[in-house]
Amino acid sequence: MNTGVTLGFIGCGQMARALLGGFTRHRELLRSVILFDIDPTKAKALANDYGTAVADSGYSLVSGVDVVVLAVKPPQVKPVLREISPVLNADKVLISIAAGVTMESIREEIDPQVPVVRVMPNVPCLIGQGVMGLSFSEAVASDKQNVILELFSTVGLVEPVPEEYMDAVTAVSGSGPAFVFLVAEALTDAAVDVGLPRDLARRLVNQTLIGSSAMIQESGEHPALLRERVTSPGGTTIAGLRALESGGVRAAFFDAVSKACQRSARR
Ligand SMILES: NC(=O)c1ccc[n+]([C@@H]2O[C@H](COP(=O)([O-])OP(=O)(O)OC[C@H]3O[C@@H](n4cnc5c(N)ncnc54)[C@H](OP(=O)(O)O)[C@@H]3O)[C@@H](O)[C@H]2O)c1
Repeated sequence: MNTGVTLGFIGCGQMARALLGGFTRHRELLRSVILFDIDPTKAKALANDYGTAVADSGYSLVSGVDVVVLAVKPPQVKPVLREISPVLNADKVLISIAAGVTMESIREEIDPQVPVVRVMPNVPCLIGQGVMGLSFSEAVASDKQNVILELFSTVGLVEPVPEEYMDAVTAVSGSGPAFVFLVAEALTDAAVDVGLPRDLARRLVNQTLIGSSAMIQESGEHPALLRERVTSPGGTTIAGLRALESGGVRAAFFDAVSKACQRSARR
């Protein structure tokens, strides 16, 4: 690590691990990485896995880096900002991945000249297949924007969005993997219900989700068109779809996204 940015993570939980895993696969983007967690064993474990350094406080971490990723849970954001604000300045970039924490509320705790970035990643970042909405404050210079876009692209698709979309992004792609996991679980149970062994059911369901997603992606067609093509008159698929519609599956998705969005906005 001798070119690129000096990067620090405050908070070494699940999402820090997912991001660091991708970032460190592209060491050319990083000069050095330093980690801090309130629980030193978590910081040391992550540092051992990725060959990085550990700081003894958030304050000392921020003193030594150009870019800080705040990867603590939303209620911890303000206390951490209060601790690090004396060493945050306009030459650094602060990136928050905390759900529902606005740039305005971040700026209440720090020098308003500090460039701030909000990112909403999702859990498939762990395997480099994430998707994230990302918003820059006006103070982030374009060369720094490019470095940050490049870094986050190592863990998935980055969609720059206006900050006003962040609650919706949180509900759709932040919470989305849990919705899809529920669909996978329900379809597997349904397969067992009609007599399939569970391990076979899981393989069938997993590959059906993978194959269907790949078709949506590769064909570029609207999912409704793809669905119509496999729905023959009087056939098995339309019988199943009718049951899904009468079970309110579409309305349930509208409600799920709307509730998650409202909760993100309330934080
Ligand atoms: N997981 C997701 O799918 C996901 C998706 C999108 C966004 N996010 C956002 O990502 C952020 C991190 O989520 P996560 O799932 O990675 O959480 P996590 O696994 O709980 O990790 C957060 C870590 O920060 C530590 N911590 C708490 N207070 C601290 C402090 N003052 N200084 C330094 N470290 C501190 C926690 O330690 P303790 O456990 O000891 O408190 C924990 O190790 C959250 O704000 C969340 O909204 C998560």
